[in-house]
Amino acid sequence: MSAAVDDVVVRALTADDLPDLERMEVALFGAAAWSPESLAAEIVGPGRWYVGATVQGELVGYAGLWFDGYDAQVMTVGTDERFQGRGLGRRMLENLLAHARSVGAAVVLLEVRVDNDAAIHLYESLGFERLGKRRAYYQPGNIDAWTMRLDLRGDGAA
Ligand SMILES: CC(C)(COP(=O)(O)OP(=O)(O)OC[C@H]1O[C@@H](n2cnc3c(N)ncnc32)[C@H](O)[C@@H]1OP(=O)(O)O)[C@@H](O)C(=O)NCCC(=O)NCCS
Repeated sequence: MSAAVDDVVVRALTADDLPDLERMEVALFGAAAWSPESLAAEIVGPGRWYVGATVQGELVGYAGLWFDGYDAQVMTVGTDERFQGRGLGRRMLENLLAHARSVGAAVVLLEVRVDNDAAIHLYESLGFERLGKRRAYYQPGNIDAWTMRLDLRGDGAA
Protein backbone atom coordinates (compact mmCIF):
# COMPACT_ATOMS: atom_id res chain seq x y z
CA MET A 1 0.00 0.00 0.00
CA SER A 2 2.95 2.33 0.49
CA ALA A 3 4.74 1.85 -2.84
CA ALA A 4 5.96 5.11 -4.30
CA VAL A 5 4.45 6.37 -7.52
CA ASP A 6 6.81 9.21 -8.22
CA ASP A 7 8.77 9.14 -11.45
CA VAL A 8 5.97 7.53 -13.49
CA VAL A 9 6.64 7.42 -17.22
CA VAL A 10 4.24 6.16 -19.90
CA ARG A 11 6.22 5.07 -22.95
CA ALA A 12 5.98 2.84 -26.01
CA LEU A 13 6.64 -0.87 -25.45
CA THR A 14 9.40 -2.72 -27.27
CA ALA A 15 10.39 -6.37 -27.67
CA ASP A 16 12.82 -5.88 -24.77
CA ASP A 17 9.78 -5.57 -22.49
CA LEU A 18 8.40 -9.02 -23.36
CA PRO A 19 9.78 -10.88 -20.29
CA ASP A 20 8.13 -8.32 -17.98
CA LEU A 21 4.91 -8.41 -20.01
CA GLU A 22 4.74 -12.21 -19.86
CA ARG A 23 5.19 -12.17 -16.08
CA MET A 24 2.50 -9.52 -15.53
CA GLU A 25 0.10 -11.11 -18.05
CA VAL A 26 0.09 -14.42 -16.17
CA ALA A 27 -0.13 -12.73 -12.76
CA LEU A 28 -3.04 -10.51 -13.83
CA PHE A 29 -5.06 -12.76 -16.14
CA GLY A 30 -4.22 -16.30 -14.96
CA ALA A 31 -5.75 -19.00 -17.14
CA ALA A 32 -6.97 -16.35 -19.59
CA ALA A 33 -3.46 -14.92 -20.13
CA TRP A 34 -2.25 -14.38 -23.69
CA SER A 35 0.62 -16.68 -24.66
CA PRO A 36 4.15 -15.25 -25.00
CA GLU A 37 3.79 -15.70 -28.78
CA SER A 38 0.53 -13.74 -28.84
CA LEU A 39 2.03 -10.94 -26.75
CA ALA A 40 5.08 -10.71 -29.01
CA ALA A 41 2.91 -10.57 -32.14
CA GLU A 42 0.40 -8.18 -30.60
CA ILE A 43 2.75 -5.38 -29.56
CA VAL A 44 4.02 -5.01 -33.15
CA GLY A 45 0.76 -5.87 -34.92
CA PRO A 46 -0.74 -3.64 -37.63
CA GLY A 47 -2.57 -0.64 -36.24
CA ARG A 48 -1.49 -1.45 -32.69
CA TRP A 49 -0.40 1.13 -30.11
CA TYR A 50 1.05 -0.41 -26.96
CA VAL A 51 2.39 1.56 -24.01
CA GLY A 52 3.87 0.63 -20.67
CA ALA A 53 4.00 2.48 -17.36
CA THR A 54 7.29 2.53 -15.52
CA VAL A 55 7.93 3.57 -11.94
CA GLN A 56 11.54 4.50 -11.29
CA GLY A 57 12.45 2.58 -14.45
CA GLU A 58 10.58 -0.62 -13.60
CA LEU A 59 7.82 -1.67 -16.00
CA VAL A 60 4.71 -2.08 -13.84
CA GLY A 61 1.83 -1.71 -16.30
CA TYR A 62 0.86 -2.02 -19.93
CA ALA A 63 -2.03 -1.19 -22.23
CA GLY A 64 -2.79 -1.51 -25.90
CA LEU A 65 -5.09 -0.17 -28.59
CA TRP A 66 -5.95 -1.36 -32.10
CA PHE A 67 -7.06 1.17 -34.73
CA ASP A 68 -8.57 -0.46 -37.81
CA GLY A 69 -8.94 2.71 -39.85
CA TYR A 70 -12.31 3.67 -38.39
CA ASP A 71 -12.82 2.40 -34.86
CA ALA A 72 -10.32 1.79 -32.09
CA GLN A 73 -10.43 -1.12 -29.66
CA VAL A 74 -8.83 -1.27 -26.22
CA MET A 75 -7.05 -4.62 -26.42
CA THR A 76 -5.79 -4.81 -22.85
CA VAL A 77 -4.80 -2.86 -19.77
CA GLY A 78 -3.10 -4.11 -16.65
CA THR A 79 -1.22 -2.75 -13.67
CA ASP A 80 1.06 -4.83 -11.46
CA GLU A 81 -0.89 -5.56 -8.26
CA ARG A 82 1.68 -3.71 -6.16
CA PHE A 83 0.90 -0.49 -8.01
CA GLN A 84 -2.87 -0.73 -8.57
CA GLY A 85 -5.09 2.08 -7.37
CA ARG A 86 -2.41 4.72 -7.87
CA GLY A 87 -3.52 6.22 -11.16
CA LEU A 88 -1.36 4.21 -13.55
CA GLY A 89 -4.27 2.54 -15.34
CA ARG A 90 -5.86 5.93 -15.90
CA ARG A 91 -2.58 7.39 -17.22
CA MET A 92 -2.15 4.56 -19.69
CA LEU A 93 -5.74 4.69 -20.92
CA GLU A 94 -5.54 8.46 -21.34
CA ASN A 95 -2.48 7.85 -23.52
CA LEU A 96 -4.44 5.33 -25.63
CA LEU A 97 -7.38 7.72 -25.99
CA ALA A 98 -5.07 10.56 -27.03
CA HIS A 99 -3.63 8.25 -29.68
CA ALA A 100 -7.11 7.23 -30.84
CA ARG A 101 -8.02 10.91 -31.24
CA SER A 102 -4.76 11.68 -33.05
CA VAL A 103 -5.39 8.99 -35.68
CA GLY A 104 -9.01 10.07 -36.15
CA ALA A 105 -10.84 7.14 -34.58
CA ALA A 106 -14.60 7.68 -34.47
CA VAL A 107 -15.24 5.51 -31.45
CA VAL A 108 -13.27 3.42 -28.96
CA LEU A 109 -14.71 0.02 -28.07
CA LEU A 110 -13.80 -2.55 -25.43
CA GLU A 111 -15.03 -5.62 -23.59
CA VAL A 112 -14.75 -6.12 -19.85
CA ARG A 113 -15.79 -8.89 -17.48
CA VAL A 114 -19.08 -8.02 -15.80
CA ASP A 115 -17.46 -8.75 -12.41
CA ASN A 116 -14.45 -6.45 -12.95
CA ASP A 117 -15.57 -3.50 -10.83
CA ALA A 118 -12.20 -1.72 -10.90
CA ALA A 119 -11.94 -1.74 -14.68
CA ILE A 120 -15.61 -0.82 -15.21
CA HIS A 121 -15.24 2.12 -12.81
CA LEU A 122 -12.11 3.27 -14.61
CA TYR A 123 -13.71 3.02 -18.08
CA GLU A 124 -16.89 4.80 -17.00
CA SER A 125 -14.89 7.59 -15.38
CA LEU A 126 -13.22 8.13 -18.77
CA GLY A 127 -16.60 8.42 -20.48
CA PHE A 128 -17.21 4.88 -21.74
CA GLU A 129 -20.83 3.73 -21.77
CA ARG A 130 -22.16 0.19 -21.62
CA LEU A 131 -23.53 -0.96 -24.97
CA GLY A 132 -24.64 -4.49 -24.21
CA LYS A 133 -23.69 -7.83 -22.78
CA ARG A 134 -21.87 -10.71 -24.49
CA ARG A 135 -22.83 -14.01 -22.90
CA ALA A 136 -20.03 -16.42 -21.90
CA TYR A 137 -17.45 -14.23 -23.65
CA TYR A 138 -14.52 -15.09 -21.36
CA GLN A 139 -13.09 -18.57 -21.06
CA PRO A 140 -12.53 -20.48 -18.95
CA GLY A 141 -15.59 -19.96 -16.77
CA ASN A 142 -18.20 -18.70 -19.25
CA ILE A 143 -17.99 -15.18 -17.82
CA ASP A 144 -20.18 -12.53 -19.46
CA ALA A 145 -18.67 -9.32 -20.84
CA TRP A 146 -19.98 -5.81 -21.06
CA THR A 147 -19.23 -4.18 -24.37
CA MET A 148 -18.45 -0.50 -23.83
CA ARG A 149 -18.06 2.44 -26.19
CA LEU A 150 -16.59 5.92 -26.05
CA ASP A 151 -17.76 8.14 -28.92
CA LEU A 152 -15.00 10.50 -30.06
CA ARG A 153 -17.00 12.15 -32.87
CA GLY A 154 -17.52 15.80 -32.18
CA ASP A 155 -15.27 15.47 -29.16
CA GLY A 156 -13.07 18.52 -28.90
CA ALA A 157 -11.28 17.35 -25.76
CA ALA A 158 -7.51 17.04 -25.82
C1 LIG B 1 -8.23 -2.45 -14.05
C2 LIG B 1 -6.82 -2.02 -13.72
C3 LIG B 1 -6.00 -2.01 -15.01
C4 LIG B 1 -6.85 -0.61 -13.14
O1 LIG B 1 -5.50 -0.19 -13.02
P1 LIG B 1 -5.03 0.81 -11.86
O2 LIG B 1 -3.65 1.22 -12.18
O3 LIG B 1 -5.29 0.19 -10.54
O4 LIG B 1 -6.06 1.99 -12.12
P2 LIG B 1 -6.05 3.44 -11.43
O5 LIG B 1 -5.18 3.46 -10.22
O6 LIG B 1 -5.80 4.42 -12.51
O7 LIG B 1 -7.54 3.52 -10.91
C5 LIG B 1 -8.55 3.78 -11.80
C6 LIG B 1 -9.84 3.85 -11.06
O8 LIG B 1 -10.25 2.54 -10.67
C7 LIG B 1 -10.59 2.57 -9.28
N1 LIG B 1 -10.28 1.33 -8.69
C8 LIG B 1 -9.06 0.78 -8.54
N2 LIG B 1 -9.18 -0.39 -7.92
C9 LIG B 1 -10.51 -0.55 -7.68
C10 LIG B 1 -11.29 -1.57 -7.08
N3 LIG B 1 -10.72 -2.67 -6.59
N4 LIG B 1 -12.64 -1.41 -7.05
C11 LIG B 1 -13.22 -0.31 -7.56
N5 LIG B 1 -12.54 0.68 -8.13
C12 LIG B 1 -11.20 0.56 -8.19
C13 LIG B 1 -9.76 3.66 -8.69
O9 LIG B 1 -10.38 4.14 -7.54
C14 LIG B 1 -9.70 4.67 -9.79
O10 LIG B 1 -10.80 5.50 -9.74
P3 LIG B 1 -10.64 6.97 -9.14
O11 LIG B 1 -9.52 7.61 -9.93
O12 LIG B 1 -11.98 7.55 -9.38
O13 LIG B 1 -10.27 6.77 -7.71
C15 LIG B 1 -6.17 -2.95 -12.65
O14 LIG B 1 -7.10 -3.14 -11.60
C16 LIG B 1 -5.75 -4.30 -13.19
O15 LIG B 1 -4.65 -4.45 -13.72
N6 LIG B 1 -6.63 -5.31 -13.05
C17 LIG B 1 -6.28 -6.66 -13.51
C18 LIG B 1 -6.28 -6.74 -15.02
C19 LIG B 1 -7.62 -6.32 -15.59
O16 LIG B 1 -8.67 -6.70 -15.12
N7 LIG B 1 -7.57 -5.49 -16.67
C20 LIG B 1 -8.75 -5.00 -17.35
C21 LIG B 1 -9.20 -5.97 -18.38
S1 LIG B 1 -10.67 -5.38 -19.24
